[in-house]
Amino acid sequence: MDTDLLVILGPRTSLGQAVLANGWAKTKQLLLIARTIEEQDSLSSLYPRATVALASVAQWPELKKYSSVAVCCCALGIIHPKEPEWENDIAATSRDLRIIEQVLESCDGQSVDVLFVSSVVAVTSKRSGRYYAGWKRLLEGAMAGLVGRYPNAKLSAVNPGRLTERRLVSSPQTWLQTPYDTLAGIMIRIMESKRATQRVIGIDSRLLLLARAVRLTFSALTARV
Ligand SMILES: NC(=O)c1ccc[n+]([C@@H]2O[C@H](COP(=O)([O-])OP(=O)(O)OC[C@H]3O[C@@H](n4cnc5c(N)ncnc54)[C@H](OP(=O)(O)O)[C@@H]3O)[C@@H](O)[C@H]2O)c1
Repeated sequence: MDTDLLVILGPRTSLGQAVLANGWAKTKQLLLIARTIEEQDSLSSLYPRATVALASVAQWPELKKYSSVAVCCCALGIIHPKEPEWENDIAATSRDLRIIEQVLESCDGQSVDVLFVSSVVAVTSKRSGRYYAGWKRLLEGAMAGLVGRYPNAKLSAVNPGRLTERRLVSSPQTWLQTPYDTLAGIMIRIMESKRATQRVIGIDSRLLLLARAVRLTFSALTARV
């Protein structure tokens, strides 16, 4: 059997790049998912040793030869707060879920560890962020349903707060945020552990959870949402 395979959805995101820059990823065979031919070309020149597959391909690369597979979903459907574009957003999300389904179908009983990058707002959202937060929460459920159909596969998720390139003395809020390479390291440890888990990441996330608990207490006492 071949060495382990790492599949990345959203390899062009800052987080995807941080995962790819980690020494662990350099020891894996790589399968990167591109959304367009232009993205496929640019990823192929950036990561020459990786296989770059187009999200819409009918013919999926052979995955049975790998002893275990990790699927790192750095991007899935909606990845930042935005104005609703219902039909486009559903199409992008369906495309991404189909890719994961194809990976799971292409495996042959070997262990598959799927890691979904959600957001702390999936559990703490305020009125203004509900569209993005709702998608993240919905995808946590959709992914659980999808991965749950395959006994050889496990699903983990991380719920980070704000991510930052680096912490800066000149920007105190960045000290509450999580650097991309720190989150990439945490995600890799979760995938390596081969145990399903879900974790809130970052000091800002913990503070948001605390604020959410206060708001919920207020709602319980006043019946106002
Ligand atoms: N940044 C944060 O503070 C933060 C906080 C919590 C959670 N997260 C989550 O962390 C993950 C990574 O975020 P990030 O900050 O690293 O992203 P990012 O650097 O802002 O990613 C931007 C890149 O991702 C591409 N992209 C957008 N949607 C995509 C999709 N569905 N599939 C593949 N590529 C896509 C964009 O391409 P185009 O411009 O061509 O569309 C662009 O090249 C996301 O899942 C995000 O929801 C981020």
